[in-house]
Amino acid sequence: MELLRVFNSFAICFLCLILTSFGFCFCNGGITGNFVRKEYSPDMPLDSDVFRVHITQGDIDGRGVIISWITPDEPGSNTVIYWSENSSHKNQAEGIFVRYNFFNYTSGCIHHCTIHKLEYDTKYIYEIGIGNSTRQFWFETPPKSGPDVPYTFGLIGDLGQTHDSNVTLTHYGSNPKKGKTVLYLGDLSYSNDYPFHDNSRWDTWGRFVERNAAYQPWIWTAGNHEIDFAPELEETTPFKPYKHRYHVPYKSSYSTSPLWYSIKRASAYIIVLSSYSANGKSTPQYKWLRDELPKVDRSETPWLIVLMHCPIYNSNSHHFMEGETMRVVYESWFVKYKVDVVFSGHVHAYERSNRVSNIAYNILNGQCTPVNDQSAPVYITIGDGGNHDGPALGMVEPQPSFSAYRETSFGHGIGIPMGNLL
Ligand SMILES: [Fe+2]
Repeated sequence: MELLRVFNSFAICFLCLILTSFGFCFCNGGITGNFVRKEYSPDMPLDSDVFRVHITQGDIDGRGVIISWITPDEPGSNTVIYWSENSSHKNQAEGIFVRYNFFNYTSGCIHHCTIHKLEYDTKYIYEIGIGNSTRQFWFETPPKSGPDVPYTFGLIGDLGQTHDSNVTLTHYGSNPKKGKTVLYLGDLSYSNDYPFHDNSRWDTWGRFVERNAAYQPWIWTAGNHEIDFAPELEETTPFKPYKHRYHVPYKSSYSTSPLWYSIKRASAYIIVLSSYSANGKSTPQYKWLRDELPKVDRSETPWLIVLMHCPIYNSNSHHFMEGETMRVVYESWFVKYKVDVVFSGHVHAYERSNRVSNIAYNILNGQCTPVNDQSAPVYITIGDGGNHDGPALGMVEPQPSFSAYRETSFGHGIGIPMGNLL
Protein backbone atom coordinates (compact mmCIF):
# COMPACT_ATOMS: atom_id res chain seq x y z
CA MET A 1 0.00 0.00 0.00
CA GLU A 2 1.24 3.35 -0.92
CA LEU A 3 0.66 5.89 1.80
CA LEU A 4 1.04 9.50 0.79
CA ARG A 5 0.84 12.44 3.13
CA VAL A 6 -0.14 15.56 1.34
CA PHE A 7 0.34 19.16 2.26
CA ASN A 8 0.76 20.84 -1.15
CA SER A 9 -1.48 23.16 -3.11
CA PHE A 10 -2.87 21.86 -6.36
CA ALA A 11 -4.67 25.00 -7.49
CA ILE A 12 -2.89 25.25 -10.85
CA CYS A 13 -3.56 21.64 -11.80
CA PHE A 14 -7.15 22.01 -10.69
CA LEU A 15 -7.65 25.09 -12.87
CA CYS A 16 -6.21 23.25 -15.87
CA LEU A 17 -8.56 20.38 -15.20
CA ILE A 18 -11.57 22.69 -15.14
CA LEU A 19 -10.57 24.37 -18.39
CA THR A 20 -10.09 21.01 -20.09
CA SER A 21 -13.35 19.63 -18.77
CA PHE A 22 -15.44 22.37 -20.25
CA GLY A 23 -14.07 21.95 -23.75
CA PHE A 24 -12.49 25.29 -24.44
CA CYS A 25 -11.93 26.34 -28.07
CA PHE A 26 -8.59 27.84 -29.04
CA CYS A 27 -8.09 30.32 -31.95
CA ASN A 28 -5.92 33.30 -32.87
CA GLY A 29 -7.66 35.72 -30.53
CA GLY A 30 -8.63 35.14 -26.95
CA ILE A 31 -10.54 32.18 -25.67
CA THR A 32 -14.31 31.96 -25.36
CA GLY A 33 -15.50 29.09 -23.29
CA ASN A 34 -18.57 27.25 -24.54
CA PHE A 35 -19.84 26.33 -21.10
CA VAL A 36 -22.86 28.36 -20.07
CA ARG A 37 -23.91 28.46 -16.45
CA LYS A 38 -27.58 27.76 -15.92
CA GLU A 39 -29.58 30.93 -15.83
CA TYR A 40 -30.81 31.18 -12.27
CA SER A 41 -30.48 29.37 -8.99
CA PRO A 42 -32.23 30.71 -5.89
CA ASP A 43 -30.60 30.87 -2.52
CA MET A 44 -31.43 27.96 -0.28
CA PRO A 45 -34.10 29.14 2.19
CA LEU A 46 -33.28 29.85 5.79
CA ASP A 47 -36.36 28.27 7.28
CA SER A 48 -36.46 24.80 5.76
CA ASP A 49 -32.91 23.74 5.22
CA VAL A 50 -31.67 20.22 4.61
CA PHE A 51 -28.18 20.12 5.91
CA ARG A 52 -25.46 17.89 7.36
CA VAL A 53 -25.80 15.41 4.54
CA HIS A 54 -23.51 12.41 4.60
CA ILE A 55 -23.40 8.95 3.07
CA THR A 56 -21.85 5.63 3.95
CA GLN A 57 -21.85 2.14 2.50
CA GLY A 58 -25.24 0.51 2.99
CA ASP A 59 -24.48 -3.21 2.78
CA ILE A 60 -21.50 -5.53 2.91
CA ASP A 61 -20.99 -5.76 -0.87
CA GLY A 62 -20.99 -2.10 -1.91
CA ARG A 63 -24.32 -2.11 -3.77
CA GLY A 64 -26.05 -0.23 -0.97
CA VAL A 65 -25.72 3.33 0.29
CA ILE A 66 -27.08 4.91 3.47
CA ILE A 67 -27.95 8.57 2.96
CA SER A 68 -28.36 10.67 6.11
CA TRP A 69 -29.40 14.27 6.57
CA ILE A 70 -30.97 16.56 9.13
CA THR A 71 -33.97 18.83 9.00
CA PRO A 72 -33.89 21.21 11.98
CA ASP A 73 -37.54 21.63 12.90
CA GLU A 74 -40.02 19.61 10.89
CA PRO A 75 -39.42 16.08 9.58
CA GLY A 76 -40.27 16.97 6.02
CA SER A 77 -39.82 14.09 3.62
CA ASN A 78 -38.01 10.81 4.26
CA THR A 79 -37.77 10.13 0.53
CA VAL A 80 -34.61 10.00 -1.54
CA ILE A 81 -35.00 10.35 -5.31
CA TYR A 82 -32.07 8.84 -7.19
CA TRP A 83 -31.09 7.91 -10.69
CA SER A 84 -28.13 6.65 -12.62
CA GLU A 85 -26.14 9.26 -14.50
CA ASN A 86 -26.80 7.23 -17.66
CA SER A 87 -30.55 7.01 -17.22
CA SER A 88 -33.44 9.43 -16.92
CA HIS A 89 -35.50 6.87 -14.99
CA LYS A 90 -35.92 8.14 -11.44
CA ASN A 91 -36.21 5.78 -8.47
CA GLN A 92 -37.15 6.53 -4.92
CA ALA A 93 -36.41 5.04 -1.54
CA GLU A 94 -38.08 5.68 1.79
CA GLY A 95 -36.12 6.23 4.95
CA ILE A 96 -36.85 6.96 8.58
CA PHE A 97 -36.02 9.77 10.95
CA VAL A 98 -34.97 9.78 14.58
CA ARG A 99 -34.51 12.46 17.23
CA TYR A 100 -32.77 12.42 20.56
CA ASN A 101 -32.38 14.56 23.67
CA PHE A 102 -29.08 15.15 25.41
CA PHE A 103 -29.29 17.15 28.63
CA ASN A 104 -30.70 20.52 27.46
CA TYR A 105 -30.35 19.82 23.73
CA THR A 106 -32.93 18.37 21.36
CA SER A 107 -31.72 17.23 17.98
CA GLY A 108 -33.28 18.01 14.66
CA CYS A 109 -34.92 15.24 12.64
CA ILE A 110 -32.08 12.95 11.63
CA HIS A 111 -33.05 11.10 8.47
CA HIS A 112 -31.50 7.83 7.32
CA CYS A 113 -32.42 6.17 4.04
CA THR A 114 -30.80 3.00 2.74
CA ILE A 115 -30.76 2.39 -1.00
CA HIS A 116 -30.23 -1.22 -2.05
CA LYS A 117 -29.27 -3.09 -5.20
CA LEU A 118 -27.45 -0.33 -7.02
CA GLU A 119 -25.30 -1.13 -10.03
CA TYR A 120 -21.59 -1.43 -9.41
CA ASP A 121 -19.20 1.19 -10.69
CA THR A 122 -21.92 3.68 -11.51
CA LYS A 123 -22.48 7.35 -10.78
CA TYR A 124 -25.83 8.17 -9.20
CA ILE A 125 -27.44 11.52 -8.61
CA TYR A 126 -29.71 11.87 -5.58
CA GLU A 127 -32.14 14.46 -4.30
CA ILE A 128 -33.44 15.06 -0.79
CA GLY A 129 -35.75 17.66 0.69
CA ILE A 130 -39.00 19.12 -0.55
CA GLY A 131 -40.08 22.19 -2.48
CA ASN A 132 -37.49 24.88 -2.86
CA SER A 133 -35.35 23.29 -0.16
CA THR A 134 -34.58 20.30 -2.40
CA ARG A 135 -30.87 19.64 -2.69
CA GLN A 136 -29.06 17.46 -5.19
CA PHE A 137 -25.83 15.49 -4.73
CA TRP A 138 -24.12 12.51 -6.33
CA PHE A 139 -22.04 9.47 -5.44
CA GLU A 140 -20.26 6.65 -7.23
CA THR A 141 -20.70 2.99 -6.33
CA PRO A 142 -17.50 0.90 -6.19
CA PRO A 143 -16.58 -1.71 -8.77
CA LYS A 144 -17.54 -5.28 -7.91
CA SER A 145 -15.07 -6.75 -5.45
CA GLY A 146 -12.17 -8.66 -6.94
CA PRO A 147 -8.46 -9.16 -6.36
CA ASP A 148 -7.20 -6.70 -8.95
CA VAL A 149 -9.89 -4.04 -8.74
CA PRO A 150 -8.24 -0.60 -8.51
CA TYR A 151 -9.46 1.70 -5.80
CA THR A 152 -8.26 4.60 -3.67
CA PHE A 153 -9.13 5.17 -0.03
CA GLY A 154 -8.71 8.31 2.01
CA LEU A 155 -7.70 8.06 5.65
CA ILE A 156 -8.72 10.68 8.19
CA GLY A 157 -8.87 10.53 11.97
CA ASP A 158 -9.53 12.87 14.86
CA LEU A 159 -10.64 15.65 12.56
CA GLY A 160 -12.53 17.99 14.88
CA GLN A 161 -13.58 21.36 13.50
CA THR A 162 -10.67 23.78 13.78
CA HIS A 163 -8.97 25.82 11.06
CA ASP A 164 -6.46 22.97 10.80
CA SER A 165 -9.37 20.55 10.33
CA ASN A 166 -10.51 22.72 7.46
CA VAL A 167 -7.05 22.56 5.89
CA THR A 168 -7.02 18.77 6.20
CA LEU A 169 -10.41 18.34 4.56
CA THR A 170 -9.54 20.82 1.80
CA HIS A 171 -6.25 19.04 1.09
CA TYR A 172 -8.02 15.70 0.95
CA GLY A 173 -10.62 17.04 -1.46
CA SER A 174 -7.98 18.50 -3.77
CA ASN A 175 -5.56 15.57 -3.61
CA PRO A 176 -4.90 14.48 -7.24
CA LYS A 177 -4.86 10.85 -6.06
CA LYS A 178 -8.63 11.29 -5.67
CA GLY A 179 -9.65 9.20 -2.71
CA LYS A 180 -13.08 7.69 -3.33
CA THR A 181 -14.04 6.58 0.16
CA VAL A 182 -12.88 7.84 3.52
CA LEU A 183 -11.89 5.33 6.16
CA TYR A 184 -12.63 7.45 9.21
CA LEU A 185 -10.69 6.47 12.32
CA GLY A 186 -12.84 7.94 15.07
CA ASP A 187 -13.22 11.15 17.11
CA LEU A 188 -15.52 13.30 15.00
CA SER A 189 -16.87 16.54 16.44
CA TYR A 190 -15.20 16.81 19.88
CA SER A 191 -18.51 18.20 21.14
CA ASN A 192 -17.98 16.53 24.50
CA ASP A 193 -15.17 19.00 25.21
CA TYR A 194 -17.74 21.83 25.30
CA PRO A 195 -19.89 22.66 28.35
CA PHE A 196 -22.70 20.14 28.74
CA HIS A 197 -21.33 18.23 25.72
CA ASP A 198 -22.85 20.98 23.58
CA ASN A 199 -24.50 18.84 20.91
CA SER A 200 -24.90 21.77 18.53
CA ARG A 201 -21.21 21.03 17.86
CA TRP A 202 -22.30 17.73 16.37
CA ASP A 203 -24.46 19.79 14.00
CA THR A 204 -21.66 22.15 13.04
CA TRP A 205 -19.34 19.21 12.40
CA GLY A 206 -21.91 17.55 10.15
CA ARG A 207 -22.24 20.76 8.21
CA PHE A 208 -18.45 21.13 7.97
CA VAL A 209 -17.79 17.69 6.43
CA GLU A 210 -20.85 17.71 4.17
CA ARG A 211 -18.84 19.10 1.26
CA ASN A 212 -17.08 15.75 1.03
CA ALA A 213 -19.22 13.29 3.01
CA ALA A 214 -22.32 13.97 0.90
CA TYR A 215 -20.46 12.82 -2.22
CA GLN A 216 -18.41 9.86 -1.07
CA PRO A 217 -18.96 7.32 1.67
CA TRP A 218 -17.22 7.76 4.98
CA ILE A 219 -16.72 4.46 6.79
CA TRP A 220 -17.25 5.29 10.44
CA THR A 221 -15.23 4.10 13.44
CA ALA A 222 -16.22 5.23 16.94
CA GLY A 223 -13.61 6.93 19.12
CA ASN A 224 -13.51 8.00 22.75
CA HIS A 225 -15.06 11.39 21.87
CA GLU A 226 -18.13 9.52 20.66
CA ILE A 227 -18.83 7.86 24.04
CA ASP A 228 -20.61 10.93 25.52
CA PHE A 229 -21.03 9.21 28.88
CA ALA A 230 -22.00 12.02 31.29
CA PRO A 231 -23.65 10.82 34.52
CA GLU A 232 -23.29 14.34 35.93
CA LEU A 233 -25.80 15.37 33.25
CA GLU A 234 -27.85 12.20 33.78
CA GLU A 235 -26.70 11.02 30.36
CA THR A 236 -25.62 7.43 30.89
CA THR A 237 -26.21 5.81 27.50
CA PRO A 238 -22.80 5.53 25.80
CA PHE A 239 -22.53 6.62 22.15
CA LYS A 240 -26.03 8.14 22.17
CA PRO A 241 -25.48 11.11 19.77
CA TYR A 242 -23.10 9.09 17.55
CA LYS A 243 -25.48 6.15 17.12
CA HIS A 244 -28.41 8.41 16.33
CA ARG A 245 -26.45 10.38 13.73
CA TYR A 246 -24.21 7.83 12.04
CA HIS A 247 -25.95 4.69 10.86
CA VAL A 248 -23.79 1.90 9.44
CA PRO A 249 -24.66 -1.42 7.74
CA TYR A 250 -23.72 -3.61 10.71
CA LYS A 251 -26.53 -6.11 10.27
CA SER A 252 -25.32 -7.13 6.82
CA SER A 253 -22.16 -8.53 8.42
CA TYR A 254 -24.23 -10.22 11.17
CA SER A 255 -22.99 -7.86 13.84
CA THR A 256 -25.30 -7.03 16.71
CA SER A 257 -23.88 -3.52 17.19
CA PRO A 258 -23.16 -0.55 14.90
CA LEU A 259 -19.86 -0.17 16.74
CA TRP A 260 -18.28 -3.20 15.01
CA TYR A 261 -19.01 -4.44 11.49
CA SER A 262 -17.46 -5.30 8.13
CA ILE A 263 -17.71 -4.16 4.53
CA LYS A 264 -16.13 -5.22 1.26
CA ARG A 265 -15.02 -2.51 -1.13
CA ALA A 266 -13.03 -3.22 -4.30
CA SER A 267 -10.11 -5.49 -3.30
CA ALA A 268 -10.37 -4.77 0.43
CA TYR A 269 -12.24 -6.43 3.27
CA ILE A 270 -12.55 -3.84 5.99
CA ILE A 271 -13.29 -4.74 9.60
CA VAL A 272 -14.28 -1.92 11.96
CA LEU A 273 -13.78 -2.53 15.69
CA SER A 274 -14.72 -0.57 18.79
CA SER A 275 -11.89 0.26 21.18
CA TYR A 276 -14.43 1.42 23.75
CA SER A 277 -16.73 -1.57 23.86
CA ALA A 278 -16.13 -4.78 25.75
CA ASN A 279 -13.76 -6.97 23.73
CA GLY A 280 -12.65 -9.71 26.13
CA LYS A 281 -13.44 -13.37 25.73
CA SER A 282 -17.15 -14.21 25.47
CA THR A 283 -18.20 -10.58 24.82
CA PRO A 284 -20.38 -9.83 21.77
CA GLN A 285 -17.53 -8.09 19.92
CA TYR A 286 -15.12 -10.98 20.63
CA LYS A 287 -17.58 -13.60 19.41
CA TRP A 288 -18.38 -11.61 16.29
CA LEU A 289 -14.72 -11.08 15.33
CA ARG A 290 -13.90 -14.72 16.08
CA ASP A 291 -16.59 -15.79 13.59
CA GLU A 292 -15.91 -12.99 11.09
CA LEU A 293 -12.20 -13.45 10.39
CA PRO A 294 -12.51 -17.00 8.96
CA LYS A 295 -15.18 -15.77 6.53
CA VAL A 296 -12.85 -13.49 4.62
CA ASP A 297 -12.22 -14.86 1.12
CA ARG A 298 -8.75 -13.59 0.26
CA SER A 299 -9.13 -14.74 -3.36
CA GLU A 300 -11.89 -12.14 -3.69
CA THR A 301 -10.59 -9.46 -1.32
CA PRO A 302 -6.88 -10.08 -0.76
CA TRP A 303 -6.55 -6.95 1.35
CA LEU A 304 -7.66 -7.41 4.94
CA ILE A 305 -7.80 -4.08 6.75
CA VAL A 306 -8.80 -3.40 10.35
CA LEU A 307 -9.91 0.00 11.66
CA MET A 308 -9.95 0.82 15.36
CA HIS A 309 -9.61 4.12 17.14
CA CYS A 310 -6.97 3.34 19.74
CA PRO A 311 -3.62 2.09 18.36
CA ILE A 312 -2.13 -1.06 19.82
CA TYR A 313 1.42 -0.16 18.74
CA ASN A 314 2.21 3.40 19.79
CA SER A 315 5.50 4.98 20.86
CA ASN A 316 4.03 8.36 21.79
CA SER A 317 3.59 9.23 25.46
CA HIS A 318 0.06 10.34 24.57
CA HIS A 319 -2.28 7.40 25.09
CA PHE A 320 0.72 5.14 25.68
CA MET A 321 -0.36 1.55 26.42
CA GLU A 322 -4.09 2.37 26.09
CA GLY A 323 -4.47 -0.19 23.31
CA GLU A 324 -3.00 -2.98 25.39
CA THR A 325 -6.29 -4.61 26.36
CA MET A 326 -7.27 -4.94 22.70
CA ARG A 327 -3.78 -6.16 21.73
CA VAL A 328 -3.75 -8.93 24.32
CA VAL A 329 -7.04 -10.33 23.09
CA TYR A 330 -6.91 -9.83 19.30
CA GLU A 331 -3.28 -9.61 18.15
CA SER A 332 -2.86 -13.37 17.78
CA TRP A 333 -5.88 -13.40 15.46
CA PHE A 334 -4.43 -10.57 13.36
CA VAL A 335 -1.31 -12.70 12.88
CA LYS A 336 -3.18 -15.97 12.31
CA TYR A 337 -5.38 -14.44 9.62
CA LYS A 338 -2.59 -12.30 8.17
CA VAL A 339 -4.26 -8.91 8.48
CA ASP A 340 -2.41 -6.56 6.12
CA VAL A 341 -2.77 -3.30 7.96
CA VAL A 342 -4.43 -1.93 11.09
CA PHE A 343 -5.30 1.77 10.91
CA SER A 344 -5.91 3.77 14.08
CA GLY A 345 -6.36 7.35 15.24
CA HIS A 346 -6.48 8.69 18.81
CA VAL A 347 -2.81 9.77 19.04
CA HIS A 348 -2.60 13.12 17.25
CA ALA A 349 0.42 12.19 15.21
CA TYR A 350 1.53 9.75 12.52
CA GLU A 351 3.31 6.49 13.18
CA ARG A 352 3.95 3.39 11.07
CA SER A 353 5.23 0.14 12.56
CA ASN A 354 7.36 -2.60 11.14
CA ARG A 355 5.71 -5.99 10.82
CA VAL A 356 5.98 -7.19 14.41
CA SER A 357 4.02 -9.30 16.82
CA ASN A 358 4.10 -9.76 20.56
CA ILE A 359 2.04 -12.88 21.02
CA ALA A 360 4.48 -15.31 22.59
CA TYR A 361 4.07 -14.02 26.15
CA ASN A 362 1.97 -16.19 28.47
CA ILE A 363 2.68 -14.57 31.87
CA LEU A 364 5.14 -17.38 32.76
CA ASN A 365 7.74 -17.32 30.00
CA GLY A 366 8.91 -13.70 30.07
CA GLN A 367 8.79 -13.46 26.25
CA CYS A 368 7.23 -10.01 26.15
CA THR A 369 9.22 -8.18 23.48
CA PRO A 370 7.81 -7.49 20.00
CA VAL A 371 9.60 -9.55 17.36
CA ASN A 372 9.72 -9.32 13.57
CA ASP A 373 6.85 -11.34 12.12
CA GLN A 374 6.02 -11.37 8.41
CA SER A 375 2.51 -12.65 9.19
CA ALA A 376 1.78 -9.61 11.32
CA PRO A 377 0.03 -6.43 10.14
CA VAL A 378 1.64 -3.06 9.67
CA TYR A 379 0.11 -0.73 12.25
CA ILE A 380 -0.49 2.83 11.10
CA THR A 381 -1.64 5.62 13.38
CA ILE A 382 -3.04 8.62 11.56
CA GLY A 383 -4.85 10.48 14.33
CA ASP A 384 -3.75 13.85 13.08
CA GLY A 385 -6.76 15.42 11.39
CA GLY A 386 -6.43 18.80 13.09
CA ASN A 387 -8.65 18.78 16.20
CA HIS A 388 -8.51 21.39 18.97
CA ASP A 389 -6.41 19.22 21.29
CA GLY A 390 -3.38 20.00 19.13
CA PRO A 391 -0.52 17.71 18.16
CA ALA A 392 0.69 14.84 20.34
CA LEU A 393 4.18 15.98 21.21
CA GLY A 394 6.25 13.71 23.39
CA MET A 395 7.64 10.74 21.57
CA VAL A 396 8.97 7.99 23.79
CA GLU A 397 12.77 7.96 23.49
CA PRO A 398 14.64 6.13 22.22
CA GLN A 399 12.37 5.17 19.33
CA PRO A 400 11.55 1.49 19.84
CA SER A 401 12.48 -1.03 17.16
CA PHE A 402 8.84 -1.75 16.26
CA SER A 403 8.41 1.87 15.13
CA ALA A 404 9.41 2.38 11.49
CA TYR A 405 8.49 6.07 11.12
CA ARG A 406 6.80 8.68 13.29
CA GLU A 407 6.03 12.36 12.91
CA THR A 408 3.89 14.87 14.78
CA SER A 409 1.89 16.79 12.19
CA PHE A 410 -1.61 17.28 10.83
CA GLY A 411 -2.92 15.79 7.62
CA HIS A 412 -4.66 12.93 5.88
CA GLY A 413 -3.54 9.74 4.19
CA ILE A 414 -4.23 8.04 0.89
CA GLY A 415 -4.29 4.25 0.70
CA ILE A 416 -4.12 2.50 -2.66
CA PRO A 417 -4.34 -1.31 -2.43
CA MET A 418 -2.13 -2.65 -5.22
CA GLY A 419 -1.67 -6.32 -6.03
CA ASN A 420 -1.79 -8.95 -3.33
CA LEU A 421 1.06 -7.70 -1.18
CA LEU A 422 1.55 -4.67 0.98
FE1 LIG B 1 -9.31 9.77 20.65
